Amino acid sequence: MTGTEILAPDDTGIARAAALLRAGELVSFPTETVYGLGADATNGAAVARIFDAKGRPRFNPLIVHLPSLDAVADYAVLEGDALRLAQAFWPGPLTLVLPVRAGSGLSPLVSAGLPTVALRVPDHPLARRLLAETGRPVAAPSANPSGRISPTEAAHVLAGLDGRIAAVLDGGPCPVGVESTIVGLAPAPVLLRPGGLPAEAIEACLGAPLALHGPDEAINAPGQLLSHYAPRAAIRLDAETARPGERLLGFGPVAGAALNLSPSGDLVEAAANLFHHLHRLDAEGDMPIAVSPVPEIGLGRAINDRLRRAAAPRG
Ligand code: TXA
Ligand code: MG
Repeated sequence: MTGTEILAPDDTGIARAAALLRAGELVSFPTETVYGLGADATNGAAVARIFDAKGRPRFNPLIVHLPSLDAVADYAVLEGDALRLAQAFWPGPLTLVLPVRAGSGLSPLVSAGLPTVALRVPDHPLARRLLAETGRPVAAPSANPSGRISPTEAAHVLAGLDGRIAAVLDGGPCPVGVESTIVGLAPAPVLLRPGGLPAEAIEACLGAPLALHGPDEAINAPGQLLSHYAPRAAIRLDAETARPGERLLGFGPVAGAALNLSPSGDLVEAAANLFHHLHRLDAEGDMPIAVSPVPEIGLGRAINDRLRRAAAPRG
């Protein structure tokens, strides 16, 4: 493959992106969380190409994207608490891990052999138009090389995957900025990954606390490897100030920050800026990065989860 096509967010661009997906090609597209690397989820060769393009070491299961709640019944069993969550939060930054429906037509690679499938209806006008026009379920992990920072702009996608994918649909920056919250139902609801929908909102909808995934995390959410989202520089968390030679990634009204996730301490703004700022610091060199403390509430849980992974020993 030579260059990656950059498609405009208009009728022509969407039609081209949909045609490429139907032809089994890889197309990156914006969602409200991060850019996804999409492939037709019913086409095993296309799904396999996702792992190849990302350089994923293993066949981790992927999230399948659908244009609306009505499309879910063809692919998965949606009832009880799962149905309530879907009705409350779709379209939106929530992924539900559901029993896969027999005869779904989904490639088994999508689920990595599990009897479940992760589904999501994204809340981004371009994603929804693309999914409707493609007319197929679209498997999409984040559009970054394996282990690197997730992309929240088309330029981030190209920096990591130019020449390895057919096209990127350029919809500007992603408004939420961290990946979706993943909830499993086993059968009681369990938080598999904190993300763009705060766990508190899910608990309010269910009227009960969410169980957290335990030490069998590797089985529940197999893609959640510890070292992930990593820039090249070392990262130190919960830093009140930067030490000599460090660059401070601030949160709140801190002095001397190289970049600040949210000078006013707004967690929604910080989530939207997180990967953007990490990409910038990564592009500017490998001097160590110190990060201000971020409170463990609301979107702070997703931000801290990604920061801990970025700071984890590289494996
Ligand atoms: O916001 C998002 O969720 C983005 C956008 C593109 O939609 N996608 C995304 O996909 O973050 P990805 O592949 O980076 O993360 C998917 C995670 C996997 O790491 C895995 O842990 C979990 O979803 N997953 C997928 N299928 C699963 C299943 N059947 N059972 C348990 N976990 C599953
Ligand atoms: Mg990812």
